[in-house]
Amino acid sequence: MRDGDRTVLVTGSTGGIGKETARILAARGTRVVLTGRDPARADEAAEELRAATGNPYVEALTADVTSAAALRSLARTVTERHGTLHALVNNAGVNPPRRLLTEDGVESAFAGNVLAPYLLTRLLLGPLRHGARESGEPSRVVNVTGGIPRGTLDPGNLQAEKRFSGWLTDTQYNRSKLALTAMSRTLAEHCAEEGGGVAVTVVYPGHADTPMNRSLPVRTYPRLVRPLVPLVRALMPVLWGDTSGPARNVARAVTGPYAGDGGVYVDMKGRRSRWPAGTGDPVVRAAIWEMCERLAPLDGPVPSGAPAAQEPERRKPMSW
Ligand SMILES: NC(=O)c1ccc[n+]([C@@H]2O[C@H](COP(=O)([O-])OP(=O)(O)OC[C@H]3O[C@@H](n4cnc5c(N)ncnc54)[C@H](OP(=O)(O)O)[C@@H]3O)[C@@H](O)[C@H]2O)c1
Repeated sequence: MRDGDRTVLVTGSTGGIGKETARILAARGTRVVLTGRDPARADEAAEELRAATGNPYVEALTADVTSAAALRSLARTVTERHGTLHALVNNAGVNPPRRLLTEDGVESAFAGNVLAPYLLTRLLLGPLRHGARESGEPSRVVNVTGGIPRGTLDPGNLQAEKRFSGWLTDTQYNRSKLALTAMSRTLAEHCAEEGGGVAVTVVYPGHADTPMNRSLPVRTYPRLVRPLVPLVRALMPVLWGDTSGPARNVARAVTGPYAGDGGVYVDMKGRRSRWPAGTGDPVVRAAIWEMCERLAPLDGPVPSGAPAAQEPERRKPMSW
């Protein structure tokens, strides 16, 4: 199947690494669905990418990934409009300055970084499986991780119930990204067991000077790093000014060769790597999965993944 026949949803793609990933995919002719929280910003980003890439099939939807209702609504719209999805990139990340609860009563980093990829993927399994049947290749779920992929996870502190911030790896952002990776391993196993051709990749994109990084208050950094924050901020545009490198890493996880069932971890150099040690403990993984199942039950109107009632008009695929 050619890229021009594929549909990819990228969350958090009105700015930062997500927008550059969407740009790469759109330039290859892929039908891309952008998302962000603000409708005007999302429309503007879609318009910019349509103009820059010449691909008229870039559209914008809105969803705050910290809201289960917004994610359900996004999944429903994508299913109704497209019916088929060839890749879902769970890119949007959340790094709150302190322990904040979402409208659903969930700690916000856990909600945005773990629960959202879990829920959106499960809600979109129908369209993803349909995409795999249609293309004859596995559809991809690409979960974007971050922080320092080290340390261990305490099942009693996944939502910063005991402490929010730590010296190096024990910050809530870090913890939530490690928990995302652990959740993704279980998700990959479920997908492999259930069949249907959905492959899960966790990718560490690499560093970039993005809206998220620019707006982080000092207290969001690990304590050991805080004295260096002014220097890091000054150097950010110089060292990490090119967002296209991390975006290429994420885009490769969408378009690269299928790397096998059971999930794959890709490091910031784009190499397949070992899973971070802290994501292997079966007790911890079970605790994370159970927390996701409990906090984001799948009942309610789950999109079926049947082809859209009215198949959108297909264009001649662009070459890439
Ligand atoms: N930048 C880095 O150095 C770095 C390093 C390692 C990993 N990462 C990871 O890479 C991913 C992208 O990072 P980034 O630095 O590009 O992030 P970013 O600057 O926060 O990305 C901006 C995009 O995310 C959207 N967004 C922010 N909060 C959202 C929310 N609650 N719900 C929905 N969309 C939301 C923004 O949309 P609106 O503002 O329009 O709503 C915008 O489209 C994240 O998962 C991050 O953890 C980044």
